[in-house]
Amino acid sequence: MNRKNIVVVAFTAVVFALGALIFHIPDAAMAESVPQGYTAADIQVGGLLYDKWFKVLDVEVSGNHPLYPSEAKKSGGDTWRCKECHGWDSIGKDGRYKKGSHFTGIDGLYSARTKSPQQLYDALTDKGSAHTINALASNSDSVWALVKFIREGQIDISSALNSDGTARGDALNGGNLYSKACAACHGKDGNKRDFDKGKEGIQGVGWLANDNPQETLHKIRWGHPGSMMPSAVADKGMSDAETIDILTFSLTLK
Ligand code: HEC
Ligand code: HEC
Repeated sequence: MNRKNIVVVAFTAVVFALGALIFHIPDAAMAESVPQGYTAADIQVGGLLYDKWFKVLDVEVSGNHPLYPSEAKKSGGDTWRCKECHGWDSIGKDGRYKKGSHFTGIDGLYSARTKSPQQLYDALTDKGSAHTINALASNSDSVWALVKFIREGQIDISSALNSDGTARGDALNGGNLYSKACAACHGKDGNKRDFDKGKEGIQGVGWLANDNPQETLHKIRWGHPGSMMPSAVADKGMSDAETIDILTFSLTLK
């Protein structure tokens, strides 16, 4: 081979290698493709749907969810809420709802976060399952939002709370974040809005945090269905640790 031929061969090899690379990229991307519905899904909507989907979608529910155990204590709308069976803390029967009026004996969804988007989508839209809620399953944006929340929005509750209910965050940092992100609506002392008017005393942020820190953390992270409350995660871009700091501070409010 003369020198000119060597250059031609080398050049051809490079062209082939590049071509192979370029034409293989779409193949590789296809193999691991994430459904478009998942990519576009709104995680905050997922968190709110998990809390009270029928309020978000403005639909009526009647009777009990078919999988709600007949011996359990709630009835009607409550039995249709994801959180009622799977828990505010994502660990169902192993967490806050292991006993008391919310006990159902059902697992949480924390371990389901490792399933693929499509697996979770299919689980929530399976027409043959008594679990499937038709009003939700027919709304693919809502299903994808729930799938995104399940995979990316759930938090390991043991990183937020000790077993005695005390919070693990930094109350000082939480206080600073609270002043910026919460005080305008809830007041410096957390009591500007009374969550359960008609009951004795004011049930503000401090009251709820002490009564139900798991629920309070969920509200801090995603907001409150049907209200203008922003999501600390989705709207304010806060980290998991920062949301835990706000919860930790909220427990100091009375
Ligand atoms: C009345 C109780 C109840 C309600 C309400 C409920 N679930 Fe479930 N869920 C269950 C039970 C029981 C299972 C496990 C057995 C089954 O699928 O039948 C389950 C399983 C699941 C699974 C599969 C978990 C896995 O590890 O594969 C997902 C995902 C899920 N639920 C999401 C939701 C979402 C999202 C909502 C709210 C829209 C919801 N569930 C509402 C009782 C409930
Ligand atoms: C734009 C105003 C606004 C901001 C900012 C806001 N909230 Fe809210 N929040 C509301 C409204 C409205 C509700 C609906 C409940 C009500 O007032 O009755 C609510 C509800 C809640 C609830 C649940 C009450 C219940 O009944 O379950 C908690 C807890 C809460 N907020 C804490 C916070 C914390 C902590 C922050 C800061 C991270 C915050 N909020 C930021 C307006 C706001």
